[in-house]
Amino acid sequence: MEELKKGTIEALLHEERRFPPGEAFRAQAHWNDKGIYDKAGSDLESFWAEMSESIDWFTPWEKVLEGEAPSFQWFVGGKTNVCYNCVDRHLNTWRKNKAAIIWEGEKIHDRRVLTYQDLYRNVNRCAVALKRLGIEKGDRVTIYMGMIPELVIAMLACARIGAPHTVVFGGFSPDALRDRMNDCQAKMLITADGAWRRGNRVPLKENADEALKGCPSIKKVLVVNHAADARDVEMEGYRDVWWHREMDRSGNEVVEPEPLDSEHPLYILYTSGTTGKPKGLLHTTGGYLVGTHTTTKYVFDLKDNDTYWCAADIGWVTGHSYIVYGPLSNGATSVMYEGAPNQPHKGRFWQIIERNQINILYTAPTAIRAFMAWGKEFPEKFDLSSLRLLGTVGEPINPEAWIWYRKYIGYDETPIVDTWWQTETGMTLITPLPGITETKPGSATFPFPGIEADVVDEEGVSVPHGKGGYLVLKKPWPAMARTIWGDDQRWQKVYWDKFPGYYLTGDSARRDEDGYFWILGRVDDVLNVAGHRIGTMEVESALVSHPDVAEAAVIGISHEIKGQAIAAFAVLVSGKEGSKALIETLRKHVAEKIGAIARPDRLFLTHELPKTRSGKIMRRLLRDIAEGRILSDTSTLADSDVLEQIKEQYEEGEK
Ligand code: WT7
Repeated sequence: MEELKKGTIEALLHEERRFPPGEAFRAQAHWNDKGIYDKAGSDLESFWAEMSESIDWFTPWEKVLEGEAPSFQWFVGGKTNVCYNCVDRHLNTWRKNKAAIIWEGEKIHDRRVLTYQDLYRNVNRCAVALKRLGIEKGDRVTIYMGMIPELVIAMLACARIGAPHTVVFGGFSPDALRDRMNDCQAKMLITADGAWRRGNRVPLKENADEALKGCPSIKKVLVVNHAADARDVEMEGYRDVWWHREMDRSGNEVVEPEPLDSEHPLYILYTSGTTGKPKGLLHTTGGYLVGTHTTTKYVFDLKDNDTYWCAADIGWVTGHSYIVYGPLSNGATSVMYEGAPNQPHKGRFWQIIERNQINILYTAPTAIRAFMAWGKEFPEKFDLSSLRLLGTVGEPINPEAWIWYRKYIGYDETPIVDTWWQTETGMTLITPLPGITETKPGSATFPFPGIEADVVDEEGVSVPHGKGGYLVLKKPWPAMARTIWGDDQRWQKVYWDKFPGYYLTGDSARRDEDGYFWILGRVDDVLNVAGHRIGTMEVESALVSHPDVAEAAVIGISHEIKGQAIAAFAVLVSGKEGSKALIETLRKHVAEKIGAIARPDRLFLTHELPKTRSGKIMRRLLRDIAEGRILSDTSTLADSDVLEQIKEQYEEGEK
């Protein structure tokens, strides 16, 4: 656990700095009394029962929680509908004409505002279209789009009729899209003719066509006209239909929201694990809605007059929970931005904040580090005084970035919530409560009320404060994933087998003397590159799928902005000569196989990989070489010449 040590030292340096909530903020906050922790801790079920009252149920639930690890059911017997809670119920209130979504396109003059009434109309038209095109309750619908309002409309329409969606990040390759559609046997794909990214059109439809060559389960493709001239897009006979035509056909028809069981699947979202095959985490209806609704309200201290911006992509869980379901179920105004943070200039985020008078901003440490590197002159050009709360998520935030964020974006006043969670957890689990918690830069602080997190050793025993260990969750929570789609066994094995009864997060953590949690990073073969989770095995499989590669090893190396970067070591098939051109070809090959986010930053060709006598690749050594550390114990290495040779090549590559 070398990351663990490094994190510990850095953390210690900053442990002394504390930021209590400002008095004015505290006085106005939804929660400002520490008693909430005891209340939830002493009776978890009553706590969540009380939280569930903020949701409209068609049939009230009978039991808060049932089952045991690894399969829990929440709000048993209840019937509700997530779309109803996010849309319909606001129409009977003054929020009917409140902005639900403020959308900013990457092109600076593209801006659309959808009120809750607009959302209602569009979601209904889409739901009517889905039904007409043959989608029924339970059918899976894949959504592969950029950040446009139609993405949210499509998700809500699926939720309305009980068709679980699976959103595939628009940056993924045709191969990645195909694997995901096949894994869940999706019946329909909703995509667009493109997405704008750094001024270029991402060819979503072309990618989809490529993927669809191997997806027999897909019967219909619904295509949004967004980034291309519709005449230039190829539509395939019976299979492909235009979104705008179908929406028009639906007219003013409505579909009543389907009363769904609390445990009815809401969505599947794929994420990387330790094997090459991504896991489709399944989230269900009632518990997920209660969990995301509650955390959105209390972690962001969300009020009705707030304009809230989560700058994540909906292709990841952050967008699902904190752009769509959490904010909309609260009747909030949720801002959505299509493009890159430096398009058309490096002040774009700050301009969006000023223009919309945004009050709450939620982004990732990697973005904050990029802003730091670009310089404070960009935020200084804009008025950010509307901001009253900042959030961060995705990876440990280094204290320097935390302090910069608070100073230049939060004007030394706003609380910062550093929220730890995962695709699997569905909702934030370790986080400050902004009106209560005294924060320390770099620490996600404490478990949310009702959450029992612990740091344990190899035997599953709690370690004393100050020591590092495995981060586990000892009690269930409502928004937890229920299983891996189609693979209950893997769900059990990956998350529940190591410490029976506890959920294994895959992260290591440490608690300091005051009990604050410091997340130190992954302990498995999963990398966190710019907040994106990438399995080393996925990248290795992509590399060996190239005819010139015999074997590959992939590791994460520290990177100033991305947190981690990918370094790959590849052994060529015999007879193949290495060259700079081949290195480029292989890096590109990985991007084509998975997506640009997985392109190795560095790639080294070597004659062999360092292995133990039993044939296991010694990643620790590769990391040591890559990060220029003195080599750790090599006594188990089969052939130490290999090491020298790799080291030489690495240093060669450095120059
Ligand atoms: C992994 C989960 C949760 C939405 C985005 C990522 C890391 C996440 C934090 C944080 C330290 C964090 C963990 C976790 N992580 N938030 N605040 N501090 N680490 O979701 O792709 O499922 O990744 O991201 O390593 O296990 P994900």
